[in-house]
Amino acid sequence: MPQAGGDERLEDNNIELTVVVPTYNEAENIGALIDRLIEILDREGPQTYEVLVVDDNSPDGTCLIVREKAMEYPGKVRCLLRRRGRGLATAIMRGIYWARGRYVVVMDADFQHPPEIVPKLYWKAVSTGADIVVASRYRPGGGVEGWSRMRKLMSKTANLIARILVPNTRKVTDPMSGFFLVRKDIVNLSDLRPRGYKILMEIIAKAYSARIEEVAYTFRNRAGGKSKLGLKTIVDFLLHALSLSPLVKFSLVGLLGALINLGVMSGVLMTGAPLDVASILGIETGLLFNFFLHEAWTFQTKMKGGWKSRLIGYHLASSGGMITNYLVMKGLTLAGIATALTGQAAGIIAGFGVNYALSQSKVWGVDVIERIKAGEIRKTGRTDKEMH
Ligand code: GDD
Ligand code: MN
Repeated sequence: MPQAGGDERLEDNNIELTVVVPTYNEAENIGALIDRLIEILDREGPQTYEVLVVDDNSPDGTCLIVREKAMEYPGKVRCLLRRRGRGLATAIMRGIYWARGRYVVVMDADFQHPPEIVPKLYWKAVSTGADIVVASRYRPGGGVEGWSRMRKLMSKTANLIARILVPNTRKVTDPMSGFFLVRKDIVNLSDLRPRGYKILMEIIAKAYSARIEEVAYTFRNRAGGKSKLGLKTIVDFLLHALSLSPLVKFSLVGLLGALINLGVMSGVLMTGAPLDVASILGIETGLLFNFFLHEAWTFQTKMKGGWKSRLIGYHLASSGGMITNYLVMKGLTLAGIATALTGQAAGIIAGFGVNYALSQSKVWGVDVIERIKAGEIRKTGRTDKEMH
């Protein structure tokens, strides 16, 4: 293992590309993968590159094979051995941290991510100036090999859920890809709290001003060994997507706004004002309260200008929600499906959905936030100091 101190890392820190390969029990694949990567990168890759395997102390001796390869290809191959801790996402973060390259490609060891795509990702970044290049199964020309209907459906569903919950993922066709390139200095490692497998989703969710491109590829069958992905990854994915979603914050703010609405209304009623006046004042105060919290907290726009049009937009989104509420209640009660109260309750849920959908797509949409944040200085992550 390269017991790299910070100095050594800095000295030859100016290479072009690091290919990070996380491994757990990939002895069957890793040797052949390294051979293939070196062959392809020598031919089509940048002048300077390295292959960095991050192994979680695999009992099958994966790291030993990598070290043999390191002697065969001096200066081009390293194995980072983690003796403590396991997990794909943290292994990838470790790899990005220790990468010497200006660009980092992350890929699986099992040939499911074709090595021929690696130089394509690199040259795409160089030629377009992109900060992130996603190898995508869902671009024209891409695909999956040997997947059952069920597996395809699950993948599509996860993709849809990510799109609904995490607005930034709409910039790409395959936010769940495990195969991608990032420019090292746009990843703020101390900012990442990955859960489960989908670290790309989090990087994209948090990299507002990043330029993202995609390259199509076909996800192949595993060469040897077996997958480490189990059912738990589905739960992990859902919790991860929720943690990255403005939906939870939006709901909390909405609840608080409703309480403020009621409080103001009863206060105004006590002054002897008419019911309509009290109600409208309650509604408007709640709405303003929601608006400013959404600006500062839910969507964290940190913007200076443009808030007036967003304020009008938020009134429209909320009106859309209230009209939906009314129509759903009316429809359900007329159809005899619901009582007045259950109808209204269903209406509140539907209205909330409409309000949220409009707010996060139109008022605080990805494009809007992107433009606002585009001026922000890029940060580098340099907090993860320990190493195993
Ligand atoms: N260091 C380390 N630690 N590596 C791990 C661990 C771990 O705990 N678990 C898995 N890996 C390595 C594997 O050895 C392999 O190289 C890579 O991570 C992917 O693991 P697989 O077990 O092959 O995952 P998969 O093929 O089921 O899932 C792949 O496809 C998904 C898309 O459907 C991955 O690329 C996912 O990231 C991707 O989302
Ligand atoms: Mn795999």
